[in-house]
Amino acid sequence: MEVIILPGAAEVGRFGADRIAAVVSRAPRAVLGLATGSSPQGIYAELARRVAAGTLDLSGVSGFALDEYVGIPADHPQSYAAVLDRDVVRPLGLAPSRVRVPDGRAPDLEAAAVDYDRAIAAVGGVDVQILGIGANGHIGFNEPTSSFASRTRIKTLAPRTRADNARFFASPEEVPTHCLTQGLGTILEARELLLVAQGEAKAEAVAAAVEGPVAAICPASALQLHRRVCVVVDEAAASRL
Ligand code: GLP
Repeated sequence: MEVIILPGAAEVGRFGADRIAAVVSRAPRAVLGLATGSSPQGIYAELARRVAAGTLDLSGVSGFALDEYVGIPADHPQSYAAVLDRDVVRPLGLAPSRVRVPDGRAPDLEAAAVDYDRAIAAVGGVDVQILGIGANGHIGFNEPTSSFASRTRIKTLAPRTRADNARFFASPEEVPTHCLTQGLGTILEARELLLVAQGEAKAEAVAAAVEGPVAAICPASALQLHRRVCVVVDEAAASRL
C-alpha cells in the first residue's frame, strides 16, 4: 500500500487527478469507479479544470458509481445519480450513456444489484476505483461488519452515516435508511484503488484502515488485501498514523 501525505486538500486533489489522468492517457477508454461525497471533490474539480483547458479528454471513459440511496427519486438533488451528473459527468465531459449508478428505485432491488455487478464485469472490470472513507471506516456504503466477500447489495445505513449525511438533506429524518452499494468483494476486484481523505474527522478511520488489523469492523481495512492501493491524505487525516 502506498500512503501519500500532502499538506492540504488542494494538493490531495491535484495528486489524485494526476493518477486518474495517467490511467486515462494509457487507456482512453478506461473504466473509472466513481465515489460521491466530499472527499473526491478536489479530484473532480482538478480534472474538470484540465478538461476545460483542453489538456485532458475523458469523453471515452466509462464510470460506475459506488453506491446509491434506496427510496429517493433519481431526480432528487441528493440522489447519487443526480450528484454524479452534476458534479462529475457534466464538468468532466463524460458520456452520460457510459456512466452507470445502481438503480435504487428498481422494483426488484436484489435483481438490480446482481445486474450491476454483471454490468461491471461486462466492460472488463474497473481500472481505477476512487474511494472516500466514512468516519466509521466505511467505503461505499459498506458499513462496519460488512463481509469482505460481499457483492453489490442492499444495505441498511448505520445511524452514524445517516447523521453524517444529514447535512445534505433538509432534516435528519429525510436521510434514506437503505442503499445499494458495491460490496467489498466488488471493490477489491478493481485493478487499482485510490482512497482519498482530508481532515481530522477522518484521522481515526484512516489509521484503522492503513495500520489496524484487517477486520470487518473497519471495512476500509480490506484495502490491505489489494495489490495496488494508493491512500492519499492531507496532514490532518494522517495525524493518527
Ligand atoms: C458517503 C458515501 C461514501 C463516501 C463516504 C464519505 O456516505 N457513500 O462513498 O466515501 O460516505 O463521505 P465524505 O467524503 O463526504 O466524507
